[in-house]
Amino acid sequence: MIVSRLELIDFRNYSEASFDLTEGTTVVLGDNGQGKTNLAEALAYLATLTSFRGAPGDALVRVGTDQGIIRATVRHDDGRESLIEAELRAVGRNRVQVNRQKLQRVRDLLGTVRVTVFSPDDLIIVKGGPGERRRFMDDTLVTLATKYDAIRLEMDRIVKQRNTLLKQAQKAGHRELPTDIEVTLDVWDAKFSEIADQFGYARATLVSRIAPMVQEAYEHLAGVASPIELRYEPEWRRTGLKAALTAARGDDVRRGVSTVGPHRDELDVTINGLPGRTHASQGEQRTLALALRLAGHRLATERIGSAPVLVLDDVLSELDDGRARALLGHLPDGQVVITTASELPPAARADRIIRIAAGTIVPGD
Ligand SMILES: Nc1ncnc2c1ncn2[C@@H]1O[C@H](COP(=O)(O)OP(=O)(O)O)[C@@H](O)[C@H]1O
Ligand SMILES: [Mg+2]
Repeated sequence: MIVSRLELIDFRNYSEASFDLTEGTTVVLGDNGQGKTNLAEALAYLATLTSFRGAPGDALVRVGTDQGIIRATVRHDDGRESLIEAELRAVGRNRVQVNRQKLQRVRDLLGTVRVTVFSPDDLIIVKGGPGERRRFMDDTLVTLATKYDAIRLEMDRIVKQRNTLLKQAQKAGHRELPTDIEVTLDVWDAKFSEIADQFGYARATLVSRIAPMVQEAYEHLAGVASPIELRYEPEWRRTGLKAALTAARGDDVRRGVSTVGPHRDELDVTINGLPGRTHASQGEQRTLALALRLAGHRLATERIGSAPVLVLDDVLSELDDGRARALLGHLPDGQVVITTASELPPAARADRIIRIAAGTIVPGD
């Protein structure tokens, strides 16, 4: 699947711009603040319906307007084309149309456009707290199969409801839980453990599949073999969540929150036997973050049988020359969009170069 054309209307700093992307590598050149990351964000939005920068929906709509549009022509592997139009409202519900037909639910779009983004912010996957690595795992799962989006939402909902109940129990403050609360908690525990066991299994499987790919990607980029380990081994998975919730109930009630479960998991990443988060150099962390993304991209390509669009946002600002050359000299097969403020090294073969300035395409190329 490729995005052959991307049109932005009142999206971020674009009032109206239309990009013809090649099926190979498109390089988008522009100085800082001209709209490179905004373009990456628009592509990724079609895949996830969120901003990879974590920006709220109204930030995506151009200032001074109340609606933005991302319009994309997508060419599927079988040659079919679809026209996707996402209308983003500063206030009110967004709408999505595919081939001029309005989707019942905006989330029905998931799975139509697949995009892998690597951006400078991804350093946080390695450097940030456990929530960042959970997000990495879960976003990768959603790329592999959209059902994980629904599972993740459902799990968040269950944890919220369970926490509300635990707060009630905490307030009740008795040594013995009131029976009605206890019975309701049992019901939530059953629901929670069923979905959590399934999700924990999915995360564990994902991690075991990508671990060797992360290792390979890292070695390729860094040019040296540094042993990298990914470990996802939450304690609750030994017994299943049901037993762990029962064991933690006293604690949960006392604190008024769910203290165990997938929402508290950690994915440990070590390099040379040391925790990447606290011990790796900034350069190692960046390379590791990129290796994680590339591994997720490769797994998605293999599993789906077709490469997602790979968007490398400002990657040259992130990597030293050797690593940039290693990356750009051997890009994975499939459509690639690279944004950069400086010309690419000659090793990178650009099939098309688009120059942008202040949210417009500079004519000439
Ligand atoms: N909603 C918006 N409306 C208008 N301009 C915006 C909006 N959001 C961001 N911008 C502008 O977009 C520019 C940043 O674009 P960005 O794509 O991040 O730049 P870069 O090319 O450095 O990646 C900034 O000048 C910012 O003011
Ligand atoms: Mg940028």
